Amino acid sequence: MQTISSTAGWTAAARELETARADRFLEDPLTLCTEAERRQWHDVVVSVLGYSPPVVPVRARLGDEVVRAAAEDGVRQVVSLAAGLESRVLRLELPTDLVYMEVDLPALLEARSLRLAQAGAAARPVCRRVEVAADLSEDWDRRLRESGFDPLARTLWVVEGLLPYLDADACHTLLRTVRGMSAPGSQLWCDHVHPDVFAAAHYAPVLRSLDELGVLWASGWADPVTQLAADGWQAGAWTVKDLARPEPGNPPAVWMPPVPTRADTSDSGYHWLIWAHTA
Ligand SMILES: C[S@@+](CC[C@H](N)C(=O)[O-])C[C@H]1O[C@@H](n2cnc3c(N)ncnc32)[C@H](O)[C@@H]1O
Repeated sequence: MQTISSTAGWTAAARELETARADRFLEDPLTLCTEAERRQWHDVVVSVLGYSPPVVPVRARLGDEVVRAAAEDGVRQVVSLAAGLESRVLRLELPTDLVYMEVDLPALLEARSLRLAQAGAAARPVCRRVEVAADLSEDWDRRLRESGFDPLARTLWVVEGLLPYLDADACHTLLRTVRGMSAPGSQLWCDHVHPDVFAAAHYAPVLRSLDELGVLWASGWADPVTQLAADGWQAGAWTVKDLARPEPGNPPAVWMPPVPTRADTSDSGYHWLIWAHTA
């Protein structure tokens, strides 16, 4: 039986594939995935769709820009929920007084520490990195506070590759807790799938495999802006298709580097990238 933690190796493999491209949109020198995870990403997703879904590297690169911009704007507290094997904290030169907190399950963080140790001395962040081993379906907020989270400081919350795995109630509970811990001027960078993906014929074999492996997506948002407004967030939301083929009705935000048109793959209309501020 898989656990959702193994999907952290898949997204790492997707970042690695992008990094290997001559026309890369993301450069991630420390992907930390194993050969078995690379193979599984290939077998479950890449070989079925015929491509590695660009949403993963696009999300990572735009997430980098969001984190950089927040740091330039004076934000000194970043909390990555379900950080997985993402090594953004190591690939970005962030201010030394910025605290970057990474929350994930204890087993994932242990595995990650081992892989980081194998990666050697280069794997040291410039900013202050704090690991928080916690289950996001339990009292993770208490753990975060005990680890030094400052509820009065503006926070950038990063929630990448998690919400689709949670059912609608769990998503709502998590984001309500996040909002309750957000000082005025805080931000949220997250992603979610569009519910239409569950009926998309070409995606059915991928979803079947996710189901067999015990990691099937459990929810989606048709309208992230309205969804988040109900919890006190003012959000902008773009599908990968919106970004790869911008339309006047929903242009990319000014800070977004142009997403290559090759990111407009057969699943690109089903995946939202969302940037929100406290309302
Ligand atoms: C698809 S990975 C995404 C990882 C990373 N954010 C990225 O973009 O590569 C999902 C992550 O969610 C974490 N996760 C799943 N359920 C969790 C829970 N209940 N508490 C904490 N982390 C959880 C997994 O361990 C895994 O690292």
